[in-house]
Amino acid sequence: MSRDRKPQIYSGRDVEGIRAAAKVTAEVLERLCQAVVPGMTTFDVDMLAAEYIRASGAKSADLGYEGFPCYMCISVNEEVCHAVARRDHIIQPGDLVSLDLTLNLNGYCGDTCRTICAGMPPSPTRQKLMQVTEDALWAGIAQAYPGKTTNDIGRAVQSLVEANGFSIVRDFVGHGIGRHMHEAPEVRHYYTPGQETVLRPGMCICIEPMVNTGTWRVVVDRKDGWTVRTADQSLSCQFEHQVLITHNKPEILTCLNNPRTV
Ligand code: MF3
Ligand code: CO
Ligand code: CO
Repeated sequence: MSRDRKPQIYSGRDVEGIRAAAKVTAEVLERLCQAVVPGMTTFDVDMLAAEYIRASGAKSADLGYEGFPCYMCISVNEEVCHAVARRDHIIQPGDLVSLDLTLNLNGYCGDTCRTICAGMPPSPTRQKLMQVTEDALWAGIAQAYPGKTTNDIGRAVQSLVEANGFSIVRDFVGHGIGRHMHEAPEVRHYYTPGQETVLRPGMCICIEPMVNTGTWRVVVDRKDGWTVRTADQSLSCQFEHQVLITHNKPEILTCLNNPRTV
């Protein structure tokens, strides 16, 4: 996979293309987050995604990726990521629904994810899980400066998550992105001595912590081969942004409004 190669350094027209792809992805995700309500099935949400994606002029990069059967990943409660949409999976009030969308616009990829609580305010635990996961993403983004390493991101994400009593998923990691959805470098959300890439201006990466209330261990559904769940059925939550490394502040390409200061 292209993840193994050297990180791409993007400039000029490529950066413009990546920016545009990331923006349209963020816009479609925003519309989806506002549309998801209890009573819909995850299949309904995927069909709505198909419609919004078509209207946006982009294409789903998830559909058909290594055989993935849906337009996007819709993962509920103990589902961690890559959940396959089902006609019999009805979203309940208070469910944590993570919506992870990857689009291709004119040959460039955008990738962003957000978790919402369907139909009602989250319980205190769910609220804390969502807050900690989003804060962990921003702690990672705050390390996305030239000269820093992917390990600086991993350390920042992991320490925030664990200080709050939650666990960080190890089996799925962030990644470079640009012409392909998954490029080098691997962006781990935990500290791994020795394994690191120095960040350089022009690199574009996705930081996407998956945080669990229980164990960090996960299992893949044996029947569909995709849906990832927490091993102990505890809750999971994910936020993801696509970030361009610049000469100074990181540019958060999937943020529609004013980004949080980093
Ligand atoms: N959007 C995911 C990511 O953040 C990847 C999607 S996997 C697929 O890396 F199978 F759905 F394509
Ligand atoms: Co994603
Ligand atoms: Co990603």
